Amino acid sequence: TRTIKLAVIPGDGIGPEVIAEANRVLDAVLAGGDAVLERTEFSLGAERYLATGETLPEAEQAAIAEHDAILFGAVGGVPGDPRLKAANIERGLLLKLRFDFDHYVNLRPCALYPGVESTLKDPGEVDFVVVREGTEGPYAGNGGRLRAGTAAEVATEVSVNTAYGIERVVRHAFSLAAARPRKKLTWVHKTNVLVHSGATWQRIVEAVAAEHPEIAVDYLHVDAATIFMVQDPSRFDVIVTDNLFGDILTDLAGAIGGGIGLAASGNINPDGTFPSMFEPVHGSAPDIAGQQLADPTAAILSAAIMLDHLGFDGDAERVRSAVRADLAARGGAKRSTADIGAAVIAQLPPRAA
Ligand code: NAD
Ligand code: IPM
Ligand code: MN
Repeated sequence: TRTIKLAVIPGDGIGPEVIAEANRVLDAVLAGGDAVLERTEFSLGAERYLATGETLPEAEQAAIAEHDAILFGAVGGVPGDPRLKAANIERGLLLKLRFDFDHYVNLRPCALYPGVESTLKDPGEVDFVVVREGTEGPYAGNGGRLRAGTAAEVATEVSVNTAYGIERVVRHAFSLAAARPRKKLTWVHKTNVLVHSGATWQRIVEAVAAEHPEIAVDYLHVDAATIFMVQDPSRFDVIVTDNLFGDILTDLAGAIGGGIGLAASGNINPDGTFPSMFEPVHGSAPDIAGQQLADPTAAILSAAIMLDHLGFDGDAERVRSAVRADLAARGGAKRSTADIGAAVIAQLPPRAA
């Protein structure tokens, strides 16, 4: 028996609702196997901040670091809530975990399952994965405001791109592409305007590409990539891009793949130095929170990515297969968050003997 120490951060809004279902599916899929989950729940997010003034106390971060993986719901209050302005939960909690735990691969698959309606009229084959760099780019926090509040105010937000940071994520994306049947990699940037980081990305992508003659490599400017993603998503297999381009492209990908309620992600530290963190792409959705209206599928598919990462590929595939069956059977019926969780569990294929 293998014990998996799982840190659970349900967070705010619909976070706890969707994580409850992901946890139920995890228990069901692992039942009868040789893995045992040992969970520790951490109450972090906007609500915790409003109650105690704390965002991510050091001792709790150290405790989280002792786990094998993190299952994360969503954090954040109502956008614009003035009481949260000083806290900046997104930077102080979510990005802090991604940065401090060196989640340099932000894996965001996009597939259109049978029976799911895309926002696109004629989507064609949709099955690609975005490898979003997770620790640098414009997210690095390199900048500041001078003379704030005056007419002479200047704000900078300088994108950080290191050869080390680019190479490791690009290598990861190439390995991923090599393991997929279509063996295609598209790297996305804005090299016509962002010439400095563009040149560094290009140099490194070309060097790694030379080691992978089996992979067809393609480049798109990010603006053109949004056109192709909408007009012909079938051209994409693996996409590798920086932190901000990846953020924007994956919300678009979420819409194409049947909506934000289905979009899953993994923040991965491939070296295994720190626990990787698995979370739906969506936020805390204060507009529908507490009403059992949220679709837990994104959280459930994030748990499946976690199972892959922990080496339980068979169980991950059983979860995906159950989700696929549930989506195909769903029709137009309105179901509660818990109903969807239960329906996925009911579709779990038996454990292979
Ligand atoms: P959001 O993703 O929370 O919601 C956008 C829209 O999608 C809303 O209409 C919401 O009802 C809907 N939606 C989201 N998830 C859904 C689900 N599972 N099922 C059905 N509908 C769903 O984005 P937002 O409104 O811009 O942000 C709300 C808060 O969440 C903010 O505080 C924001 O900073 C935070 N946020 C957190 C994360 C995260 O924790 N990873 C990600 C994005 C936003
Ligand atoms: C996401 C979110 C986060 C991001 C925010 C909430 C910090 O939009 O996970 O995509 O920008 O990465
Ligand atoms: Mn985003």
